[in-house]
Amino acid sequence: MCGIVGYIGKNNCVKYTLDGLKHLEYRGYDSAGIAIQNKNSIKIIKECGKIKELIKSIEKIKLPESNCAIGHTRWATHGKPNKLNAHPIRTNTVTLVHNGVIENHEILKKELENKNYSFKTQTDTEVVSALMDNYYKKDPIKAIEKTITKLEGSYALGILFKDIKDTIFAVAKNSPLIIGIGEDENFLASDIPAFINHTKNYIILEKDEIAILKKDSVKIVNLKGKPIGKKVETVNWNLETTKKNGFSHYMLKEIFEQPEALKRCFNKRLLKTNVNFEFENLPLEKIKTIKKIHIVACGTAMHAGLIGKSIIEKLTKIPVEVEVASEFRYKDPILNADDLVILISQSGETADTLAALKLAKKRKIFTLAIVNVVASSIARQADSVFYTWAGPEFAVASTKAFTVQVAALYLISLNFAKMLKKIKQEELKKYCELLNEMPSIIKKILKLNDEILNYAKIFYKDKNMFFIGRGLDYCLALEGSLKLKEISYIHSEACKAGELKHGTISLIEKNTPVIVVASQNEIFSKTLTNAKEVISRGANVFLICDETAEIDEKNFKHFLKLPKTIDFLAPLYFIVPLQLFAYHVANLKGCNIDKPRNLAKSVTVE
Ligand code: F6R
Repeated sequence: MCGIVGYIGKNNCVKYTLDGLKHLEYRGYDSAGIAIQNKNSIKIIKECGKIKELIKSIEKIKLPESNCAIGHTRWATHGKPNKLNAHPIRTNTVTLVHNGVIENHEILKKELENKNYSFKTQTDTEVVSALMDNYYKKDPIKAIEKTITKLEGSYALGILFKDIKDTIFAVAKNSPLIIGIGEDENFLASDIPAFINHTKNYIILEKDEIAILKKDSVKIVNLKGKPIGKKVETVNWNLETTKKNGFSHYMLKEIFEQPEALKRCFNKRLLKTNVNFEFENLPLEKIKTIKKIHIVACGTAMHAGLIGKSIIEKLTKIPVEVEVASEFRYKDPILNADDLVILISQSGETADTLAALKLAKKRKIFTLAIVNVVASSIARQADSVFYTWAGPEFAVASTKAFTVQVAALYLISLNFAKMLKKIKQEELKKYCELLNEMPSIIKKILKLNDEILNYAKIFYKDKNMFFIGRGLDYCLALEGSLKLKEISYIHSEACKAGELKHGTISLIEKNTPVIVVASQNEIFSKTLTNAKEVISRGANVFLICDETAEIDEKNFKHFLKLPKTIDFLAPLYFIVPLQLFAYHVANLKGCNIDKPRNLAKSVTVE
């Protein structure tokens, strides 16, 4: 993970670099640091913890005026999250920031130790700076080329050479690196929000390309120093999207953005009574041959995939397997030429999902990526991309990105079903009409926020929680449980309601909180029976159902009734109260909601 930035231009680099880092803190917040280039030297300032700690340190010292700096916010992989291991890291002539993991750093370290290099930090990054210093003989491109040829793993590097003034060098492989092109100023960043305040024009740096940034020019060259022509892209969202806009946390803001996110995802694809879009590189002829679909993703995106399995199988009758990417990539999966692999990822950078994509491509299996971040690694490398258009998601806990992933799976399945003539016109019309109502249904649910807060007040002091449901509700229970545990640190477990009696029910005792998700009318009575089973063992049940449910209020003291549509579409909106519940519980506990401990938004390590 980690976020790297660089600034060179007409303004004071410190403010711009720190501003950029603040926007990348979602990528890690174990430590932060900047390196400022001035006339005679490069000054490094680092601090343990979040960017605000670094800012406090910088405020205490008088820094030289400078227009060129690189910066880093860290999610520790190699070495403790302390000040020593914070970046930038310097070895003699080379100062650099790194995002990624150097897998062969131990071997390289030994080689360098034999050349009399000694190491102060426990990081894999120091091996890169030492290696580059070793190769640096006044030719920066050659030094970079020789260094990266020896590196195994992933890296995005922002580099300053001691004797080359007013120039930042950058190179990347399997970690994102974006060059922001401004007027008399240029930027380097792991992600666009770091510079969107200043420019909307950007270039994505690919493998084996080196960027040379000066105040008034950006040159991209190959490893032999030959210039490469690159397309300058333009961001189509704005600064407002990167602010909290009066919400106390990004997570809450993003939960409330769901109606708009859905509208963006539906735009031009979902018509009043039909779906209408094409899949890039995936013609009907190919769709017709698909025998099996594999959905591969991690965490919340995998939960969207589990819901996707039910949707695809119901609408297209194509069998679907869902696997977490970290398992898929190492299990030698059985893949046949006419299979389709669907990768789901908000960031488009998750290392395991990216590796799964590469595995599928290596086996020549068609890959379709459902991705939020435009031009991210997964989006660029998949054969076909379906962008979800949720807009930037900053809170580590994914909310709106999940909802649009589920929406994407409805749209894709309906489109496949239509193309394969597996759905009647009437049925397609009904689903499209109901999907069009989803943004306003979610708006109605958001109005229940205070009611949900009151339920959170009942449960926030508990140490353990269970989420139960059947069928699609079990997938929602998994996601509700993950949301709660990751931000509130309450241990929670999701269980298929019908499975309770095969073991988990022995954990239920007086006042054990059990959140029952019951959106599926067809099996409502079955879920209710399971809920009563835990109530009779003393559980404190919070039932989430729809307005048509008949509940015996003597048994169910805590319940929330949501608008009714049809069982099949419930995952799109039943998730919202679970997100709000997790949010309020964590907030009442005083947790760091947007940046939970040990986590990062973009998991670029395996
Ligand atoms: C949890 C959460 C994570 C991500 C997972 C995959 O709230 O956000 O579980 O879903 O790390 O990330 P992406 O979707 O970026 O591949």
